[in-house]
Amino acid sequence: MTEESPFDWMAAGYERWHATPKGKACIALEEEALGALLPPGRSGALLEMGCGTAFWFPFWRRAGYEPFGLDLSLPMLEQARAKGEKRLVQGRAEAPPIRKATFSCVAFLTTLEFVPDPEKALSRAAGLLLPGGSLLLGVLGADSPMARSRKASGQPPWNQARFFTAVELDDLLSPFGKPRIVPARPLPPEFPPRGEGPEEPFFLVAAVSLEG
Ligand SMILES: C[S@@+](CC[C@H](N)C(=O)[O-])C[C@H]1O[C@@H](n2cnc3c(N)ncnc32)[C@H](O)[C@@H]1O
Repeated sequence: MTEESPFDWMAAGYERWHATPKGKACIALEEEALGALLPPGRSGALLEMGCGTAFWFPFWRRAGYEPFGLDLSLPMLEQARAKGEKRLVQGRAEAPPIRKATFSCVAFLTTLEFVPDPEKALSRAAGLLLPGGSLLLGVLGADSPMARSRKASGQPPWNQARFFTAVELDDLLSPFGKPRIVPARPLPPEFPPRGEGPEEPFFLVAAVSLEG
């Protein structure tokens, strides 16, 4: 029997937000932060854990990778397949149905927040990397007004999310090497919610390269 994901119900409309002015602004800043941390000389296979609708696959290709995806949600994967993506598998990041260590990079974008055992998922991800491969994380910043308002909404899937700070990301990745962390630049002021004090980064990118 296949498992259900809290994202199943939103699969068909998942990318609607991406096309809004705020969605576009967020994605541009997320791409900028990811670009700052992608390892140089990128090539080979990249596995996106929690790939959803494969929204990021064109970005991975532009960066030089050949993307593969794993996701818990069949409806999300169906959206990805409808775009012609084929290198997809249904499964849990904590127990990926993949045996061989063949990836140059394993990435989690806005996914680790929903994984019940992030340490286990990262350890399994590291086991799928080739020597010298990289783990790459992109998460909503725990201290950002955006994460706080999503959590406060009490709505699924946000009621199940665990948001991370930069310190927590560093702790999660330190067992694998020396993490590098880059905060996305703040969103322009026209996009609420805004905090009262200095804006906390709405998105954090973290990467670690395993010893080759
Ligand atoms: C917020 S979406 C992000 C999708 C994609 N990475 C993106 O940024 O567009 C989170 C995704 O993680 C998946 N997911 C949640 N928990 C998971 C788990 N334990 N293993 C694999 N996928 C999971 C969900 O089904 C969903 O598609």
